[in-house]
Amino acid sequence: MENSNRFDFDELVERHGTSSMKWDKYGSREIIPMWLADMDFRSPPQILRAIEKRTAHGIFGYTLPPQELNRLIVSMLEDTYDWSVDPEWLVWLPGLVTGLNVSCRTVGQNGDDVMTAVPVYPPFLTAPGFGGRNLIRVPLKENNGHWQFDFDRLEQMITKNTRMFILCNPHNPVGRVFSRSELSELASICDKYDITICSDEIHCGLILDKDKIHIPTATLDPEIANRTITMMAPSKTFNTPGLGCAFAVISNRKLRKQFKNVMAGIVPRPTALSYAATFAAFSECGDWHEALLNYLRDNLETVSGAIQQMPSLSISPVEATYLAWIDMRSSGLENPVKFFEEAGIGLQDGIEFDGPGFARLNFGCPRKLLIKGLDRMTAALDRLNR
Ligand SMILES: Cc1ncc(COP(=O)(O)O)c(C=O)c1O
Repeated sequence: MENSNRFDFDELVERHGTSSMKWDKYGSREIIPMWLADMDFRSPPQILRAIEKRTAHGIFGYTLPPQELNRLIVSMLEDTYDWSVDPEWLVWLPGLVTGLNVSCRTVGQNGDDVMTAVPVYPPFLTAPGFGGRNLIRVPLKENNGHWQFDFDRLEQMITKNTRMFILCNPHNPVGRVFSRSELSELASICDKYDITICSDEIHCGLILDKDKIHIPTATLDPEIANRTITMMAPSKTFNTPGLGCAFAVISNRKLRKQFKNVMAGIVPRPTALSYAATFAAFSECGDWHEALLNYLRDNLETVSGAIQQMPSLSISPVEATYLAWIDMRSSGLENPVKFFEEAGIGLQDGIEFDGPGFARLNFGCPRKLLIKGLDRMTAALDRLNR
């Protein structure tokens, strides 16, 4: 057993020189990168050891999804969500973005409509078009920073060609963990119009609000499960996105077959090392996971406290994820992201999520770095208002 005190989330690990997408973006400019969604923490030691052990074997031949990994996922889903899954329902993927794109092509045909609620993670906005589908964007409703589905509008915007709804739960970027009643209402609309649900649940291990729980859409009822493609991964929670491993759960045999047909010959399996990492993630890393959530909760408090002090900025409650969605519409800044980059902090522009006037801040980093970034924001705004 690892002792949670042994996990040093405060350590500043140098990521320059590792071709990190997040850190290399700004080249030699002195900008703290708080945009892309990976964390600046090492993965759990149990994962590092599992990879070392697999590496020591020395042969990296073509590798099937290990049977014991399938069994582990099934028991993890049962234990965590009271969800009984047949190992046959699992489809392994190198990543969720791949799964989003495969899903869009799985039902219907070219020219059909795929719906999602915006703002949302950018690949939701591109996957339908890449697959020859039209995207229908339904705005989420915002009330004092609290984001919800606008079910009336959603239903009005459904066309006779709407085949799929892509759901992000927990939601990136608005940080919501949708409740059972919200999910049920969405699912019943999808049921009424015979719409397949692609449920991206990649952030399900990052519930920060202790009063919330993650409810997989497919657990609502068997009818809903029948029209749902669920996708999960260890990558957000255990900080392994560079290893490339995710899975879909598709109970409907026909839907699963169609999904696999779209993948055939194009989508590779995850790698041997990523299977080893995933096995360790879901079997040995409970204590690290708990310690991570506590660290992120404290980071969130730091972010919320700092933003509250910044005139004209506000953030929505972050129920899950390590991403804060900051409302900058009252700041008067024409290009807030450029403004803050010039002050040495790199945020992600809300425009990319179809959320103009907002920016996303990733607080999955050592607190010292977070505070440095927030101080830069405060100082920049002070200079502006002087
Ligand atoms: C909602 C959502 N889905 C998918 C991904 C990326 O998935 P992958 O790296 O497995 O392609 C992210 C990454 O931030 C995300 O936020």
